[in-house]
Amino acid sequence: MKSSIFITRKLPEAIVKSLEHHFEIKMWEEEDTPVPRSVLLKEIQDVEGIYCLLTDTIDEEVIKGAPNLKVISNMAVGFNNIDIQAAEQQGIVVTNTPGVLTETTADLTFTLLMSTARRIVEASDYLRNGNWDTWSPMLLTGQEIHGSTLGIIGLGRIGEAVAKRAKGFGMNLLYYNRTRKFEKEEEIGIQYADLDTLLKESDFVCVMIPYSPKVHHFIGKDELALMKPNAIVINTSRGGIVDEEALYESLVNKQIWGAGLDVFEEEPVSTNHPLLSLSNVVTLPHIGSASVNTRLKMAQLAADNIIHVLNDKSPLTPVNS
Ligand code: GLV
Ligand code: GLV
Repeated sequence: MKSSIFITRKLPEAIVKSLEHHFEIKMWEEEDTPVPRSVLLKEIQDVEGIYCLLTDTIDEEVIKGAPNLKVISNMAVGFNNIDIQAAEQQGIVVTNTPGVLTETTADLTFTLLMSTARRIVEASDYLRNGNWDTWSPMLLTGQEIHGSTLGIIGLGRIGEAVAKRAKGFGMNLLYYNRTRKFEKEEEIGIQYADLDTLLKESDFVCVMIPYSPKVHHFIGKDELALMKPNAIVINTSRGGIVDEEALYESLVNKQIWGAGLDVFEEEPVSTNHPLLSLSNVVTLPHIGSASVNTRLKMAQLAADNIIHVLNDKSPLTPVNS
């Protein structure tokens, strides 16, 4: 008999086909709405695999509600939506999709950095709104990118890929990481700094750490207070790492110059959110990995992880490897 799995969102046809070959599939058939909690709890009761997204909260209640569960496959590199400890206690394998999205997410991070520094969204709106009367000396002037200092907090795969892009733009590089990465310092040409030094010296502070409760509001009032008046904060990791209220205050008080945010403490972020009222903030709807190619690769890797585990093979990318 085939194992059964539940897929929490409508996936591209080709991905579903690759899973149908192995499993009985139940799938939430909507593409743009997360599965309601009540449906999730009902559908997982007898499945051996859950294929989920970062919008699904897979907590202890869900895990305990699926006594046959062997694998939870998250179509994301981040997995703070899953209670890893509860899964481990039940002997359930949890997998994510690292690697395949590294370069694409680094591209978006750099796009956001440049868009914020050079006020791209504001400038485009300015033109479209009919405000462009003449070229003028200081119109829509932003911050320099080349020659400036980029501070990367979290030199993981994506942080490193961002650093390589920055090198091409002639930026100076600092990083802060829990453990120092000597070999990377030489390979990339990046310098280690303690957190305070990085915050004080960087023109751009790029947050590239995975979310866990331990790093909740890692960048808060005190950290923002150390930054330069021309500093720009970029976050493409997870909301919650940067304290949004403190960030808003520091932007309004001109303690720092701007921010580029792809992620928010609550997603989707409300259009009434104070940060969205500021012209020096560039905001995106969590699209770091959103290229057609990469999303398909993530979807396939998430599928392959389930296929491996339920066929008694080692998972390709377990989260705790
Ligand atoms: C997206 O945010 C991911 O974690 O893959
Ligand atoms: C994510 O894959 C990271 O290590 O940065």
